[in-house]
Amino acid sequence: MIRRCTNSEFGTILEIINDGAQAYRGVIPKGLWHEPYMDDNELTEEVRDGIVFWGAEKDGELVGVMGIQDKKEVTLIRHAYVRNNLWRQGFGSALLRNLQALGQTPFLVGTWAGALWAISFYEKHGYRLVSETEKNLLLRRYWRVPHAQIATSVVLVDSKWNPDGT
Ligand SMILES: CC(C)(COP(=O)(O)OP(=O)(O)OC[C@H]1O[C@@H](n2cnc3c(N)ncnc32)[C@H](O)[C@@H]1OP(=O)(O)O)[C@@H](O)C(=O)NCCC(=O)NCCS
Repeated sequence: MIRRCTNSEFGTILEIINDGAQAYRGVIPKGLWHEPYMDDNELTEEVRDGIVFWGAEKDGELVGVMGIQDKKEVTLIRHAYVRNNLWRQGFGSALLRNLQALGQTPFLVGTWAGALWAISFYEKHGYRLVSETEKNLLLRRYWRVPHAQIATSVVLVDSKWNPDGT
């Protein structure tokens, strides 16, 4: 079951993010890896910034979360995480399909260049990687990403994305 997360689930969302983020250990540059991967303050900021979290349930428990952020002409997928013992069982796909049905604008997602599983996940859903030049531009326009993270990130876009904005 896919549903919108409630405010009272803040702690569970954080827990799922930090559980799923274990995938990045040893994959993202050492200087950018920290534990927990996300703390209370950062998640609070993200929610304040307009990210709305949706969740996937298994047996009544939240097992995956995915955020959506409306940026007027585009929609960003932010913080997609499934509990690491439940990967590859369709929870991420169910969340992504659900979010895509909510928005009319092109969907963009940023992830670590080394997160090959995540790139494969989005490509399976029709997303494509943009060029280095376009990535740099999009990350600066729509995200707040530290400079060092830009170099080690990629951006994928769905088929609605038109770089000319027409
Ligand atoms: C990316 C993620 C949200 C996908 O959710 P999921 O429930 O595992 O995905 P689904 O079961 O719906 O889809 C599975 C597809 O995703 C990709 N995938 C997911 N986990 C993978 C892994 N460990 N290794 C390789 N491919 C993987 C594959 O394309 C896979 O298809 P396949 O099983 O047919 O090869 C989840 O794996 C996760 O939380 N990963 C760690 C955090 C992360 O990378 N988040 C993305 C940040 S944008």
